[in-house]
Amino acid sequence: MRKLSIIGIGAGNPDHITVQAIKALGSVDAVFLIGKGDAKEDLAQLRKDICARYITRPYRMVEAQDPERDRAPADYQTAVTDWHKQRAAIYERMIREELSDGQHGAFLVWGDPSLYDSTLRIVDQVAAMKTVAFELDVIPGITSVQALAARHKIALNRIGRPIHITTGRLLANGMSADDVVVMLDGDCAFKTVKDAAVDIYWGAYVGTADEILVSGKLKECGPKIEKIRNDARARHGWIMDTYLLRKT
Ligand SMILES: C[S@@+](CC[C@H](N)C(=O)[O-])C[C@H]1O[C@@H](n2cnc3c(N)ncnc32)[C@H](O)[C@@H]1O
Repeated sequence: MRKLSIIGIGAGNPDHITVQAIKALGSVDAVFLIGKGDAKEDLAQLRKDICARYITRPYRMVEAQDPERDRAPADYQTAVTDWHKQRAAIYERMIREELSDGQHGAFLVWGDPSLYDSTLRIVDQVAAMKTVAFELDVIPGITSVQALAARHKIALNRIGRPIHITTGRLLANGMSADDVVVMLDGDCAFKTVKDAAVDIYWGAYVGTADEILVSGKLKECGPKIEKIRNDARARHGWIMDTYLLRKT
């Protein structure tokens, strides 16, 4: 039987990797990497640095290019389903051709595999194909949300209260709770929140050497964050940011 580990590696700080992840990396024969194109080469490099640091036995780095994805599709759900199918075909080939019986392969997942990541869904699709059998284990990682909260030195929830984690796209429909964490926001969706009594705790490239943090009243910080964000994205060619909006 082949073995496949899905390993959460944290969201940019190489020290956020867990002992469990290091132990799993210690027995891999192959690490599977999916390239995202030039702009995000820094992220691929972080994965490679983690392997170089923690894998002390001979292993293969197997790379494949991410299938092209329509970023502004008319039908979002169908576009994502198609993209997952193409990815599942790539993963299936990697597991079947690059691992022999008894070998151990790993996908390194940014942050934690349970949060806004499709790896587990895609691996389920591969298992359903029944063309290659593998034993699966999932190793949690520190999410960008936890890293953000730690850097701002805040708890995400208030006492006995819920938090809501959502995307920039959905925030545009309004704040669905008093404490809302927003991810995957390419458009500064916080601009749609008009309530004056809201604080923002924002972070970009959290945990990395390029980290930027801003916090304060949304009304005052919003325009400042938009400018910092645009400048940083132009400088790096990409940006990943997350924020908590908190009704005061
Ligand atoms: C596809 S999701 C992956 C989330 C990841 N699985 C996690 O556990 O954090 C990508 C989004 O995560 C957030 N993100 C990931 N890394 C980040 C970082 N270092 N700093 C700030 N936000 C980050 C951003 O909102 C980005 O758009």
